[in-house]
Amino acid sequence: MDRIIIRGGAPLTGTIPISGAKNAALPLMTTSLLTRDTLELSNVPRLADVQLLLRILGNHGVDHTIVGRRAGESSESGQTLRLQASNVIDTTAPYELVSRMRASFWVIAPLLARFGEARVSLPGGCAIGTRPVDLLIDALQALGAEIEIDAGYVVARARDGLRGARIDFPKVTVSGTHVAMMAAALARGESVIENAAREPEIVDVADCLNKMGAKITGAGSARIVIEGVTSLHGANHAVLPDRIETGTYAMAVAMAGGDVMLENTSADLLRAPLDALRRAGAEVSETNTGIRVRRNGGALAPVDIDTAPFPGFATDLQAQFMALMTRADGVSHIRETIFENRFMHVQELARLGARIRLDGDLAIVEGVPQLRGAPVMATDLRASVSLVIAALVADGETTINRVYHLDRGFEALESKLVRCGAQVERVRA
Ligand code: EPZ
Repeated sequence: MDRIIIRGGAPLTGTIPISGAKNAALPLMTTSLLTRDTLELSNVPRLADVQLLLRILGNHGVDHTIVGRRAGESSESGQTLRLQASNVIDTTAPYELVSRMRASFWVIAPLLARFGEARVSLPGGCAIGTRPVDLLIDALQALGAEIEIDAGYVVARARDGLRGARIDFPKVTVSGTHVAMMAAALARGESVIENAAREPEIVDVADCLNKMGAKITGAGSARIVIEGVTSLHGANHAVLPDRIETGTYAMAVAMAGGDVMLENTSADLLRAPLDALRRAGAEVSETNTGIRVRRNGGALAPVDIDTAPFPGFATDLQAQFMALMTRADGVSHIRETIFENRFMHVQELARLGARIRLDGDLAIVEGVPQLRGAPVMATDLRASVSLVIAALVADGETTINRVYHLDRGFEALESKLVRCGAQVERVRA
């Protein structure tokens, strides 16, 4: 297994191009199952999760081509994928594939909506908590699906098609909102999603579905209205920038010090995390093409945060912010309100010398004057990258094991950091 070795101490200076968002690319690729025509997606990040979803879609019979680089495009422009589901041969998503990536469960919605049936393995446990799919199933049932659990599979049927309904989520769920929106796009009549997730990735998927002929209004608000249509057609769509990657590098700069332009992204995607960074002492300014982050050696102030659904502080940036707070001048409180077990990075940050106490969903972080390099490993992708951030200022060498977690969600991580002066090296197994 590959490892990443980081020698701490170098400030970051330069430009980092931000990739397309993993958490938009995955549901966007899934929408290709809703039409027999070609869906062309550009700015798709080169990530292990994208490759895995291509395999899962391929298993259903979706053809894909990766379009060659066009004039003026750099290797950092993301890739362009053409997906065509004109010949779906199988509506089953098997355990071997679904168990490796939770978002692959979402294929249940387009398969059911277009073909009237789907058999998709339950995604199973996950390192950040139990992560059930009950709300997704409730939404499909509300739309008229008959659901049965058979040998670890969710079997969904709607022989006469889905029908529009009111879906009122008892808690905000990104996966539930994606699934409800995709299914309702091809249902008969009007659907209303109440307490919908407002994440930018939901808006991106709604925009793409509308280009495909869907009639969706209100995405980005808590109430989404979908007028069902009988069929969807092909479209071209560019994946929006990755706000989690943006926030991760912004925190890396705040940690290491320096001056970095984050290109091809927008502050509108992450107001709450950028505000927390400003309060911690980083200078954050917006330009037409991105965000500039600077910090010149001053102390970091402790900042308390609670994770929350968008527009609140993203749970996917909690581990990175905690890494930053390990060096603050004082005590900060970090509350995780979305997932019940998303503090797996705490033990590993402690190996680098961090002082963190856990009390239920609260982490109490007492800043220390110095971290020291050590071998570490992490159990999910955001936790892994929090160790990268800590390692950027740790004395000596940090070896991060199980790099495949990073490869799931961060495109060209080492080269993006190295071009800004960090000492990062990948050792191939
Ligand atoms: C998405 O997961 C993201 N994944 C996650 O990013 C992100 O952390 C999460 O949203 C929250 O922002 C993708 O977009 C691929 P949820 P998702 O449904 O949709 C509970 C990363 O690192 N819940 O909004 O699965 C659930 O357990 C990943 O890129 C139910 O109880 O999250 C959680 O407590 C990790 N029943 C809360 O809702 C359900 O049926 C929010 O989950 C569904 C969810």
